[in-house]
Amino acid sequence: MKLNKIIIAIDGYSACGKSTTAKEVAKILGYRYIDSGAMYRAVTLYFLDHHIALTNPKEVDRALQQINISFKVNAKNITETFLNGLSVEQEIRQMRVSEQVSPVSTLKAVREAMVAQQRKLGKDKGIVMDGRDIGTVVFPQAELKLFMTADMLVRAFRRQREWLEQDRLVDLDDVIENIKKRDLIDTTRAESPLRQAGDATVIDTTHITIDEQVDQVIRMAISKIIAL
Ligand code: CDP
Repeated sequence: MKLNKIIIAIDGYSACGKSTTAKEVAKILGYRYIDSGAMYRAVTLYFLDHHIALTNPKEVDRALQQINISFKVNAKNITETFLNGLSVEQEIRQMRVSEQVSPVSTLKAVREAMVAQQRKLGKDKGIVMDGRDIGTVVFPQAELKLFMTADMLVRAFRRQREWLEQDRLVDLDDVIENIKKRDLIDTTRAESPLRQAGDATVIDTTHITIDEQVDQVIRMAISKIIAL
């Protein structure tokens, strides 16, 4: 039996568990997982390494033409982000990138370039994409839209634990400050700000486990697939 495929859009604030949920849901459904935040992070890394002035539109446009972002699944079944053929999966998670990614993501030219690539990746459906504007701008026609939230401290502890698992020590106050700053820029920017799509279902992950989050999303996805 050939099942119809859907698009699952997961939006929400920084460090609410969007990517962890999206990855697991994609694995269970046999769908492709795309981390749109990783794309904005890769652009930011390129801009930092090439000293691109965000205030110079010509420089930004020229840089965007030089950027090629792709994803590959490695031997450990982990999706890695590639920038111009090189894996940047570790580098894009560094604090220096986290500190600049939201200002870079406010630029219209950057958003247009990324949204065009994201739509191409979703043209055959069977995709789970997480980000800030997936249900509102990238795939307004997505069959399942979710909006994730969680208490600020819970989000900061979770992000810090992720880093500790990779032997990276970051001060909790710095994590909180970075999350707060990004949330503020992401929700108040003029170009496709982070907001809940009218037809999105809210999942507050403060008091639930990753398994429970995944179960909820899978149940909703199955109802959508069956209804097609
Ligand atoms: O740290 P976290 O995993 O929560 O963030 P991310 O998904 O890696 O996204 C990093 C940043 O990229 C966000 O704070 C936004 O500024 C930007 N972003 C965006 O503007 N639009 C998206 N669709 C995804 C990310």
